[in-house]
Amino acid sequence: MPDESPDDALAAAGYREVPDTQGGRAARGWWDANAQDYLDEHGDFLGPADLLWCPEGLRESQARLLGDVRGARVLEVGAGAAQGTRWLRGEGVDAVATDVSGGMLAAAARLDAATGTRTPLVQADARALPFADACFDVVFTAFGALPFVPDPDRVHAEVARVLRPGGRWVFSVTHPVRWAFPDDPGPAGLTATRSYFDRRPYVEQAADGHVLYAEYHRTVADHVADVVTAGFVLDGLVEPEWPAGHDRVWGGWGPVRGARLPGTLVVRAHRPPS
Ligand SMILES: C[S@@+](CC[C@H](N)C(=O)[O-])C[C@H]1O[C@@H](n2cnc3c(N)ncnc32)[C@H](O)[C@@H]1O
Repeated sequence: MPDESPDDALAAAGYREVPDTQGGRAARGWWDANAQDYLDEHGDFLGPADLLWCPEGLRESQARLLGDVRGARVLEVGAGAAQGTRWLRGEGVDAVATDVSGGMLAAAARLDAATGTRTPLVQADARALPFADACFDVVFTAFGALPFVPDPDRVHAEVARVLRPGGRWVFSVTHPVRWAFPDDPGPAGLTATRSYFDRRPYVEQAADGHVLYAEYHRTVADHVADVVTAGFVLDGLVEPEWPAGHDRVWGGWGPVRGARLPGTLVVRAHRPPS
């Protein structure tokens, strides 16, 4: 019998348009297939129970970007192995983790087993959240969901729907300026080689053309427009600086580029009180 399963070997990579349906769907399979490798590489730095906002090492325990979460009901979207939610629960917060990838949630369950915790885990695309309207006080993600969808307006709309009036929405993404530079942590990553304004996604494809991975670019103005269009009030943008003595390289992030360029953008917003 011939093997009829799709060949997922990487055959091409680059910045190119692909059908939105394929691009948005690719994330689930890619994160399923790569969950363990990702955690083998970054798990120590992420910690089993910690809310790390970015490769710069900014942690919620010091930054308090979510505001006061005492007594709050909190939702994490694109939670990966749910380290942020697990940390919040350890702080006594009623928090729930969601992710589109069953592989990442299985890794979350393994972390629960290893740490003796029980984190509520729900498999869900951030563009279609299985929760009632206005049932959370805070929603957040650290690099989850938004970079991997062609239609982030759907994520913002869903977050606005499940947040109560006055509720807060905080997310971190790759700093948009990085799009203009090669994804290289060394000196080669300091020279702009692409247009910051080129919105074509970075795509990896198999030989038959099907999309294995897609990552989407939004300019700073795009992110602000997305948030405002969804009805949020923008509270602030945070551009974490690379701390002196922090030597850890994470993909294209590291001390060489961190000394000169922002690597992360954190957006803080809230639903207007009714
Ligand atoms: C870079 S990880 C971030 C997770 C975690 N904060 C961390 O730092 O490891 C990106 C996560 O976004 C998830 N993701 C991608 N597309 C998604 C979508 N449409 N809805 C929900 N989660 C999504 C992936 O499955 C993955 O777990």
